[in-house]
Amino acid sequence: MREWESPDYEPRLPVSEKSNPLTRDIDRASACCIVRMLQACDAQMFQEETGATYQRLLSDRVVQTVMEVARRVEVVLKEPQGGLVVLSGCGTSGRLAFLTASGFNRELRTRDHSSLFSYIVAGGDRALLSSQEAPEDDANLGILSLKKACEGKTRVLFIGISCGLSAPFVAGQLDFCLQHPEVYTPVLLGFNPPHQASDEPIPGCTFTFHSVVQRMQELVRREEAFLITPAVGPEAVSGSSRMKGGSATKILLDVILSAAHAATFTNTPITYKGVVQHMRAYEKTLEVTYAQSEGIAALVEAAGQSLCRGRRVCYLGWGSLAVLGLIDASECEPTFGADYEDVRGFTRGGYSELNNNEGPLTSLGSQFCIAHQDFLRFVLPTLSDQDTVLLIYTQDDVSDVVTLARTVRGKTSNLHAVHHHTDEHAAAAAQQEDINKLCLSTVRVTWSTATSESLVHMQRELSTKLLLNAVSTGAHILKGKIYQNHMIDVQVTNSKLYRRATRLLQKLSAHPEHRCEEALLKAIHRVDELTADISSSDVTTHAHAARDRSMAESHLEQEPIIREAVEAWLS
Ligand code: F6P
Repeated sequence: MREWESPDYEPRLPVSEKSNPLTRDIDRASACCIVRMLQACDAQMFQEETGATYQRLLSDRVVQTVMEVARRVEVVLKEPQGGLVVLSGCGTSGRLAFLTASGFNRELRTRDHSSLFSYIVAGGDRALLSSQEAPEDDANLGILSLKKACEGKTRVLFIGISCGLSAPFVAGQLDFCLQHPEVYTPVLLGFNPPHQASDEPIPGCTFTFHSVVQRMQELVRREEAFLITPAVGPEAVSGSSRMKGGSATKILLDVILSAAHAATFTNTPITYKGVVQHMRAYEKTLEVTYAQSEGIAALVEAAGQSLCRGRRVCYLGWGSLAVLGLIDASECEPTFGADYEDVRGFTRGGYSELNNNEGPLTSLGSQFCIAHQDFLRFVLPTLSDQDTVLLIYTQDDVSDVVTLARTVRGKTSNLHAVHHHTDEHAAAAAQQEDINKLCLSTVRVTWSTATSESLVHMQRELSTKLLLNAVSTGAHILKGKIYQNHMIDVQVTNSKLYRRATRLLQKLSAHPEHRCEEALLKAIHRVDELTADISSSDVTTHAHAARDRSMAESHLEQEPIIREAVEAWLS
């Protein structure tokens, strides 16, 4: 049994919140060691089950359930009338729902099928690009957005994703599905065993995440509900479920949806062996990616130096790899207390390529300007050699990349590339040579030509996710934003983060829980003594107060003249 699996290891915490013994000293590690630690943590995703403690990705029960859910998706694809598959989650879980739904709808369009996959992200499309943590606590909002996505549908397969089995937004949706079994079949995807689901009361609701999971468990045998809840081990940075939680989410969604597609369009039956092989292909993806660990460490170093100097890191991506850049960048704000300018992502075609539900969001502010054109107009003129720019592309984009690389090189020599290619594409070699000359470093990730095009596409996406997670996490560690392996600069903007902050205080101060909670409340409400009002309020009210305060402070930071700040805020 591995250390974190022992019942005595941090026994009060669910797996997704435990600290990983492998990364205890990650805050003191060099760029190379950070990458090695991340590699070891990621490898835990594919470790075999030991004893009966935790189901793992490749456990028999997990593979069987993946097959059952894939068959349900197949039914929707074969009889599309009134059918829909909805993928929903908060933060990264919702962003990956978006990435997956968009990718598979695109594939349907190439077959002249209409879209059958829908995504929901708590807080709407702005949450694809920025942190919107308050809606995660809102179960009713979850239900409303599910109803809206499913208007007019008669058969819905709902896949709710919550890595920590804790988001009230998703709990509300699952509860709604359970109440309307004539239309909805609920599937829960997460990375704690069911008994570790959160039992935190949800304001205005009679259920908790835990009670919803219990009700689902009763329906599992009749295949009226499905639970896919393997453990993937604690995150490298405690609770940072964007990392392994996100990767495993992507793996499972990809495996389920592509098995259903193959069954529908190429008559390939959904088999145990096929599912395991697909999972193993992702294990291989880890190997292929981390074979470039030296190159990745160089990127971590460059990005870390930029952040340490108060400068920025920009990802310029193409196709779906750019979306992974947008996602990674959006996570830095809540994870490391970063400014949105610190790490930014851009995609070639902007919103027309993103093809999100709500269309262009540029009117929401510069944070939402995501096209390469926006980068050229607003960001490039401000860059110097102290900023890091990273190009992320496949061989299909090489000629466009050369042009952009030349332009960027005029402003900064701190230009790097991540190039995914197959050996078949020697044709673009001359242009790639040009790019290499323009860049300080190039990470070349090579994919086998023997693998199908669609699998390589998904492998490239996961590889890019791992690589960018390493760059942004590593860079912030080098900047000093992590204590041991804990996020310290955490904003207490929802109930999960409130509980996490209390635990952190407890761990660091060794004081009892109630004293730490008291200290946290005093800090949130800026008082020396807690009033009866404060003491009797619920966690959501405290999270609201913390959020309002931090928003007010950041508005004041941007606009120190009170009248202007108030007017800007009101408008
Ligand atoms: O509250 C913030 C956050 O932790 C994000 O970082 C994360 O992506 C999101 O919540 C969703 O968490 P979960 O998938 O566990 O519901």
